[in-house]
Amino acid sequence: MSRAVVASFAGTEDPRLHTLMTDLVRRAHDFVTSNDLTTAEWEFAIDFLTRTGQVCSDVRQEFILLSDTLGISTMVDILTNSRVREQTPSAVLGPFYVEGPPAVRSGADLAEGLPGVPMWVDVAVTDPDGAPLPDAIVDVWQSNEDGFYDVQLPDLDGPVLRGQFRTDADGRLRFWTILPCEYPIPDDGPVGQMLDAVGRHPFRAPHVHFMISAPGHRRLITQLFPSDGAYLTSDSVFGVKHNLIVDMPEHRGPTPDGRVVDGAWRRLDFTFRIAPDA
Ligand code: BEZ
Ligand code: FE
Repeated sequence: MSRAVVASFAGTEDPRLHTLMTDLVRRAHDFVTSNDLTTAEWEFAIDFLTRTGQVCSDVRQEFILLSDTLGISTMVDILTNSRVREQTPSAVLGPFYVEGPPAVRSGADLAEGLPGVPMWVDVAVTDPDGAPLPDAIVDVWQSNEDGFYDVQLPDLDGPVLRGQFRTDADGRLRFWTILPCEYPIPDDGPVGQMLDAVGRHPFRAPHVHFMISAPGHRRLITQLFPSDGAYLTSDSVFGVKHNLIVDMPEHRGPTPDGRVVDGAWRRLDFTFRIAPDA
């Protein structure tokens, strides 16, 4: 049977497509036979994939969420990006990035008075040798203190906790935000049912997203995780990488830009290294 199906691909013109189809069928057939799959189980799988497609819309991509929760997105990400010398590790984009975030000046407050622990962020963008990269475009986005992104809150007016910065002559940018907290991925669809069925929780470890572009360099999409955050070892999309876990220590008293903060505040310092284009 497998041989007949593999042979049916003999006329495929694209050699890569031939390789992928052949290997996919061989492994799928092996999965079916080695697990003695029943008709009822296969019908359940087809129904699961059908429902996964049916809940997709302009603002929801359940197939990507399935790929994320099965660790496939992170595997592809690692294969694509981890062979690049001295580049900060990448991490999955996630569904909450919005193209064209508002331009924000260095020093601004992305949280604009939202509740949460204030956090001062001071990051640098350099090349692999540590040379600063001025004029790099840095998109930043994160959830609020309750774990929601602005796009999940239809009553909210305008973009919140997201912005686009440009690095200064020293390749740096600074801003205020709030300490990120854990939140569940959308779990009211088939992916949530899958997590439930296998006894997994839907939470992501707290993180701030960054997308960094500079002329002549590879674009870096990544996330930074506070080292004292929850779910670092059981992130629901397997997105945590060791080098992206960062201390965001607590401070009290005077702040770097003289802003008066009542009580404790956090601080995030990090250097992103991005590689030249191949
Ligand atoms: C996120 O970090 O925003 C995210 C990533 C993958 C799936 C769901 C959410
Ligand atoms: Fe996120």
